[in-house]
Amino acid sequence: MTEPELYLRPNAMAEPLIDGWYAWAHLIPPATAARNLTQRHLKIMDSYIESPETHASAVKNPQLLGGPFMDFEGNKVQEVRQLRDRTLRERKKLLDLSSAIEKLDQLLREKGTGFSLESLYAEVPNELQGYVELVYDLNNHPSFRVIEPLLYRSEYYEESMQSIMLSEISRDDRPFVLSTPRLDEGEALQLEMPFSSPALDDLFRMKVASMTLSKIREKLNLDEKDAAKLRTFLTTEAPKPYSRYEGDGARWRYFGHACILLETGGVSVLTDPVLSYTYESDISRYTYDDLPPVIDYVLITHNHQDHILFETLLQLRHRIRNIVVPRNGGGSLQDPSLRLVLNQCGFKNVIELAEMEEIRFEKGSVQALPFLGEHGDLNVMTKAAWKLNANGQNLLFAADSCNISPKMYGHIHREIGDVDALFVGMECNGAPMSWIYGPLITQRIERQKDHSRRLAGSDFERAKAIVDQFHCKEVYVYAMGQEPWLNYVMSVKYTEASKPIVESNRLVEYCKSQGIVAERLFGEKEILLPSANAECTVRRGH
Ligand SMILES: [Fe+2]
Ligand SMILES: [Fe+2]
Repeated sequence: MTEPELYLRPNAMAEPLIDGWYAWAHLIPPATAARNLTQRHLKIMDSYIESPETHASAVKNPQLLGGPFMDFEGNKVQEVRQLRDRTLRERKKLLDLSSAIEKLDQLLREKGTGFSLESLYAEVPNELQGYVELVYDLNNHPSFRVIEPLLYRSEYYEESMQSIMLSEISRDDRPFVLSTPRLDEGEALQLEMPFSSPALDDLFRMKVASMTLSKIREKLNLDEKDAAKLRTFLTTEAPKPYSRYEGDGARWRYFGHACILLETGGVSVLTDPVLSYTYESDISRYTYDDLPPVIDYVLITHNHQDHILFETLLQLRHRIRNIVVPRNGGGSLQDPSLRLVLNQCGFKNVIELAEMEEIRFEKGSVQALPFLGEHGDLNVMTKAAWKLNANGQNLLFAADSCNISPKMYGHIHREIGDVDALFVGMECNGAPMSWIYGPLITQRIERQKDHSRRLAGSDFERAKAIVDQFHCKEVYVYAMGQEPWLNYVMSVKYTEASKPIVESNRLVEYCKSQGIVAERLFGEKEILLPSANAECTVRRGH
């Protein structure tokens, strides 16, 4: 009998994990991973083991959303203790690397007093010898830069920490990933393989191209028990074929958060890919099933976990022609190179663009524009707003850019001219800087200082200044975490009185009063844009 041809089910969830924790961008580079291991994961695990009740009640408290509390159904002390003990046993090198970073900071604070740093190299902790350069800024503040390419080639980068957990998803709610590890509940399939494994491409290709069980089993190297588990995530039902845009203009579709797919007859571009799986829900949305078989350019705006999602990127890797990221790689601990992270994850096609640099393609171009703020005043270069020109239409994807220096947009406007459509997030509350960067800081930061340095986007006045500067004809504010299927990376719940909602409502009203098309997006949206010569825009909302 011939074996059936099978597809990957549209609700098969594939989570990339690092030792059981959801793989976001700071868990892959060794130095930031080491700091998060000791200063985030071990602390949360210890606290949970000591008092699971505190965590259970904290996750029900809306005031504490996104806090360091594990969100489990039932008591998981035994499982968490196992995870902690295994981590302490197996990740000694990373634990040592983390304390070496702390010691190096201390050394620089004590002895980097403005005199030559050369004599300090001998005192750099052993674990970091040869992996750092000691530097001053021009005000004699000492610091160090990490030589990242060497660290990835060192004993500190262990692919054995990486795995993919395959399970079924049927509803939106997922625990917040920075605080809750993923425990194997028995029904999931653990694929113990590095993220760069080509076998993962074979698996994810099965969303649209069928394969037999024996073939995929062989590629993934599964034993009989795991092959039987894998079978539960496969189906004989073929997905509906994708109908691509074939007009003379362009079509964009909003997939949620900052994720937008733009297609012309010749090119497809996807920004900050963060996709929902396909399952029954009251909120209609585009999902993985609504993507073209080839994506020419993926654009990443910045290195926050709601904008660069490895879970989505790995599943799309085989169909991405180019992935465009803001140039960085200066070696600051808080700013790991995205190109290197992506290279380690098996992406061979990463293009870095520095501020104002551009790539051109047929009837269009992509240009990296400066993106200020939203990073707690830390020196982070991995940020770009993307100006996309497609068939004569100028779209500006500003993401979380905070307009703290409006003159900058004046300078940019002189270069690029007007913008037809602006896409912008307005999370103007913003978490304190330590929410993401706290584990990297080795001395106590005063609460008041921390709370003054927020990961905040533009408010009404700041966003309005962008709209006015570029004479935007259309303005779209992102949903900013209101899409319930993104709770696991966003962890915010707004009411009508929340500042981001109030401020974005004001922006929408302001725009409408000026005759500008404007709305705050939610769930899904489709817009058809005319070709460069046509006169009017045809719209179809959902
Ligand atoms: Fe952000
Ligand atoms: Fe964001």
